[in-house]
Amino acid sequence: MSNKDAAIVVLAAGKGTRLKSAIAKVLHRAGGRSLVEHVVRSAAPLGTRKIIVIIGHQGEQVAAVVQPLEAETVLQHPQNGTGHAMQVARRALGRAKIAVVLPGDAPLVRTETLKAMIAAHRSANAAATILTAVVADPSGYGRIVRKSENAVAAIVEDSQLAPEQREINEINSSIYCFTLEKLWPALAHVKPENKHREIYLTDAIALLASRGEIVIPQVAADSREVLGCNTRADLAEVDGIFRERKRSELMSNGVTIQLPETVLIDPDVFVGEDTVLEPGVQLLGKTRIGARCTIRAGSVLLNATLDDDVMVQPHTLIEESRLEHGTIVGPFARLRPGTHLKAGARIGNFVETKKAIIGEGSKVPHLSYIGDAKLGSKTNIGAGTITCNYDGVNKHPTTIGSKVFIGSDSVLVAPVKIGDGAYIAAGSAITENVPADGLGIARGRQMNKPGWASKKRRELAAAEKLGKPGRKSPKRKARKRRR
Ligand code: UD1
Ligand code: MG
Repeated sequence: MSNKDAAIVVLAAGKGTRLKSAIAKVLHRAGGRSLVEHVVRSAAPLGTRKIIVIIGHQGEQVAAVVQPLEAETVLQHPQNGTGHAMQVARRALGRAKIAVVLPGDAPLVRTETLKAMIAAHRSANAAATILTAVVADPSGYGRIVRKSENAVAAIVEDSQLAPEQREINEINSSIYCFTLEKLWPALAHVKPENKHREIYLTDAIALLASRGEIVIPQVAADSREVLGCNTRADLAEVDGIFRERKRSELMSNGVTIQLPETVLIDPDVFVGEDTVLEPGVQLLGKTRIGARCTIRAGSVLLNATLDDDVMVQPHTLIEESRLEHGTIVGPFARLRPGTHLKAGARIGNFVETKKAIIGEGSKVPHLSYIGDAKLGSKTNIGAGTITCNYDGVNKHPTTIGSKVFIGSDSVLVAPVKIGDGAYIAAGSAITENVPADGLGIARGRQMNKPGWASKKRRELAAAEKLGKPGRKSPKRKARKRRR
């Protein structure tokens, strides 16, 4: 059924005092996204007429997160409670008949669960439908007081429970469906009679029920879906559930994950079949990995694109880089933004690259910095080579052709060009272009002095015999004195 008569209201104006944070609660992250972004993304596929997000604390930042998802925002100031938040949304709701209300701090809810709740609401012709859950530890949540098998009498907040109500383990998720023409008159009668002096949306439930309106519970099949994030511990638990969901999805798509609970994968990451993720790997942002790759222990990839058959050795960091088919990197390599490894290229241990194009089959195997550089194919960069790309003010490019051999411990002072097939002698400081097939050598010439060392030793021995002062160790002097 079409949901064009309905609108979504996401309550996201609160501060989240229990998090003890300078950041508004709904901006905290779990499972690779802010809480409020998860909520809006779950609601969007319902196809309602609009999505309204109630903002307040750090409203501009919250708006910046939800506006790209085509939600509109309404400012609630001051924040006088969840019921007040609904009153503030009234004008924006316009001609909507049904409101689907979601708290911005319960990010695990699935679209299917919301669909089922809306269907139940419609078929019962209810004034209100509450998504509830039966949990082992209900502390902190509002409790559902039932009138009968399928009717709710009231929601009682944790702080207002009578002793016998503490036993109730059915909780209010704060996710509801309201028929608006029934909600508004009830809400108008709700008073801020609680210790926070807030207008609680939960109090409208008891009012509706007492007026004989239909208020039904819809029990969530998986109680974990309604977890709210009020504390750091809640955030950690919810993050863990999101991460597990993502790993299960990848594993069922043919990805091997070793010690899965140690592997962190963001929601937009794609991984191809028969790729192996070793323990402690993090795949972040919009990282895309092809088939048959191996990402070894402790590597972190952010917005990286890997084609098929790529090997990432342990403890490698790759950011905003593209690795073509059959490339090998690491261990302990750092590929910074703008690195592009063409097919079969290799980056070895303790190598840093930035804005660097490494041509097909070229190798940078050990201890190098390659920045603002373009390398042709089948070029070999010796251990310890540095591109000096920065003169203290500007960055300059280094261009190295194909089949070039750069000797170890060379510095290439940019801007500089090394032609195809050229050699650079080890230990050179290259400041001028080197032509194709030439040799660039730029270092002090070596001088050998035959016999120098043995002459030196003879001189030292003679000085010792004469007992020249200052030549002996204090220990030897002491020994002599005893004799
Ligand atoms: C609320 C419910 C409780 C339920 C629990 C589920 C009320 C009074 N209580 O409690 O029954 O078990 O959620 O997680 O509703 N907000 C606003 N404006 C305000 C106040 C809050 O937009 O003036 C937003 C908050 O940003 C938050 C959501 O509403 O996203 C819920 O508020 P919160 O303070 O977390 O309520 P709980 O104490 O968790
Ligand atoms: Mg809450």
